Amino acid sequence: MQIRDDGQIYLEGVSVEELASTYGTPLYVYEENRIRENYRRALSAFRKYYPDTRFFYAIKANNNLAVANILRQEGAGIDAASVNEILLAKELGLGGEDVMFSGNFLSDDDIRQGLESGVIFNLDDPVLLPRVLKYGTPELLSFRVNPGYGQCDIGAFVCNAGPEAKFGVHPDQVLGAYKAAKEAGVKRFGAHMMPGSSIRDPEYFGYVTGLIMDLIGKTSRELGIDFEFIDLGGGLGIPYKHENHVLDIDAAAAKMAGVFKQKIAEYGLKPPRLMMEPARYFVGDAGYIIGRVHTVKNSYKRIIGTDIGMNVLARPALYGAYHHIYVNRREAEERMPLNLCGQLCENTDLWVKDRPLPKGTTEGDLVVVENAGAYGFGMSYQYNGRLKPAEALVNGSKHYLVRRAETYQDLVALVNVPEYLKK
Ligand code: LLP
Repeated sequence: MQIRDDGQIYLEGVSVEELASTYGTPLYVYEENRIRENYRRALSAFRKYYPDTRFFYAIKANNNLAVANILRQEGAGIDAASVNEILLAKELGLGGEDVMFSGNFLSDDDIRQGLESGVIFNLDDPVLLPRVLKYGTPELLSFRVNPGYGQCDIGAFVCNAGPEAKFGVHPDQVLGAYKAAKEAGVKRFGAHMMPGSSIRDPEYFGYVTGLIMDLIGKTSRELGIDFEFIDLGGGLGIPYKHENHVLDIDAAAAKMAGVFKQKIAEYGLKPPRLMMEPARYFVGDAGYIIGRVHTVKNSYKRIIGTDIGMNVLARPALYGAYHHIYVNRREAEERMPLNLCGQLCENTDLWVKDRPLPKGTTEGDLVVVENAGAYGFGMSYQYNGRLKPAEALVNGSKHYLVRRAETYQDLVALVNVPEYLKK
């Protein structure tokens, strides 16, 4: 993003005015080159310390296939959370061991389809193993380990491990899980964890790596099995608030790879591939939402009414998450505490409170919300009959519509009213 001398905001080489007039608002926009830079920065940091590193993009964060294809071109595999995400990976031409299926609390149908798809199965608990075996014995199997500790930058909401989490194999059950898999005829093994999201402290990455490596080291020794890969999850954070520091990616990679290598030596492991499945770090700061101010209301407070509500960006209402906001052509103006909302009939839709914003912000202005590339569009919904926005991609001075906005037809397309109710 760039603010030019006349105050116009540009995403790569395209002004938000041009994007808004071409595609309408609200509009998600992704900067292709930023995604590529983020991916390359992270990969080169990890490969510097551990050459056998591979990233699997967690497609749940942003499942637009244009975005996912950028990461596929960079060499990423896919981390899929559902059978439909395995199918999305297939659209990218990825399957087999380029895709990891880390579904949670799976149905029998999920298990059968996951197994039939031939991707890497990552089981959340040993209780699932007999249900998998009903449909066949995977040659390669991974378990998602709950290392007993998790952390998150945005409160306890997104803490994916530790005693309060619903995810992963309890540390005391890890050995038994792999023993049962070995006895069932599984020949090749991997391991996985996902203990936190949006972390910017490099120490955390070394610490959690030690936790899983101890569990896997003991399991390997005890059962005489090798691990082909250990997937250390996502979690590489981005700063949402401008006063927060960026993650020192080199330090995070050095800590993770350092502990990884130290534990390989300590337990005498055959060196596994180091896998990670970040998402936010690749796409988070490459995505923006452009919205328009439709109504400014002076009541108890001055409220700027835009078309970006919690239906378009759920994170503030859901987690109290902060997203920085710019006002096109007004960033140089004097500021005053303002409130900003969307168009829904819920007060959690008033998602910006008393924030210093340009004083002159008025009807017709364009607002730009930052860090919306991850968990943005994917968590949008149709409440109040509001439709999901379009998504655009920018690359230099070129721009492309990569998902059209929903229409009224989409709102009613799946509904069926029994005949007798129409009378
Ligand atoms: N792998 C697995 C198994 C995951 O569940 C996730 C995210 C990731 C990888 C990617 O994590 P990341 O690198 O983005 O931290 N909706 C929340 C975030 C939920 C994270 C869910 N899992 C948010 O808006 O902050």
